[in-house]
Amino acid sequence: MIELIESAARARRAVAAARDLGKRVGFVPTMGALHEGHSRLIAQCRAESGLAVVSIFVNPTQFGPAEDFDRYPRSVDDDLERCQIAGADLVFAPDAATVYPNGLRSTFVEVPGLSDVLEGASRPGHFRGVATVVLKLFEIVRPDLAFFGQKDYQQQLLIRRMIEDLHVPVELRICPTFREDDGLALSSRNRYLNPRDRRAAALLYRALERAKHAVAGGQRQADRIRQILRETLESEASVKLDYAEVADAETLEPLGDLGKGRRAVALLAARVGTTRLIDNMMLME
Ligand code: PAJ
Repeated sequence: MIELIESAARARRAVAAARDLGKRVGFVPTMGALHEGHSRLIAQCRAESGLAVVSIFVNPTQFGPAEDFDRYPRSVDDDLERCQIAGADLVFAPDAATVYPNGLRSTFVEVPGLSDVLEGASRPGHFRGVATVVLKLFEIVRPDLAFFGQKDYQQQLLIRRMIEDLHVPVELRICPTFREDDGLALSSRNRYLNPRDRRAAALLYRALERAKHAVAGGQRQADRIRQILRETLESEASVKLDYAEVADAETLEPLGDLGKGRRAVALLAARVGTTRLIDNMMLME
């Protein structure tokens, strides 16, 4: 039976007890409103761990003042059921006072460079909130393995960098983006989309596919690929592009020409109706 724990001390004790039995501890941090993409992460965690821990915490410090913190979907009962079905042993669902014992203006983690571009440029303070809460959760849960989605490409790069810089003893696993049949990446925010916007949202994937196809056909000019991304998204009036970037897959530096031994990734953010969506695809491995 799955165990729901709200206290940090109890979570830490439960993990310590499993580790004493020689179990490897796997961890999937989430903000709840779980969907099949999360389930894949949890199932992967289950497969690689003796104890599979999921956290559910809508982290206030990663939302900007005008963002959707208050209306972010919360569905604890459904989430617990999904965790159970996907094979989690323990769900850690703390409240804000547990995670931020001295209030939200707490000690924080900043990852320079990676925090300021793309998502970071559009959402000031977002990655500081993400890095801070992930380190806090790592410190409470103390996992051996942590599972993140490729869907949030910049986030996983940032977490990787933080782990290296701060010598956090956790191994990172990145799981592929799980998509709907028309290519739309599953996201907790997809439930904000009305039926028309839901159809339009598939354009993000279509744009990325076109970009990848162009690269497979020999296109090496990043500007030309950015143009393909932009043109595809601009074909629909309800889609408002935020950025369409072709970047170095490790540093997120914008690329001039592809090739030259550098891995390349295409990254997109757009507003569809009132909902902001992101997606990405590797162009060159
Ligand atoms: P959340 O958006 O709930 O996502 C939790 C994890 O699920 C992240 O690692 C994310 O990349 C992954 N994920 C989301 N959609 C996915 C999909 N379609 N396919 C595969 N994986 C997917 O990301 C966060 O929460 C927060 O920023 C968090 C790391 C928990 C810190 O608050």
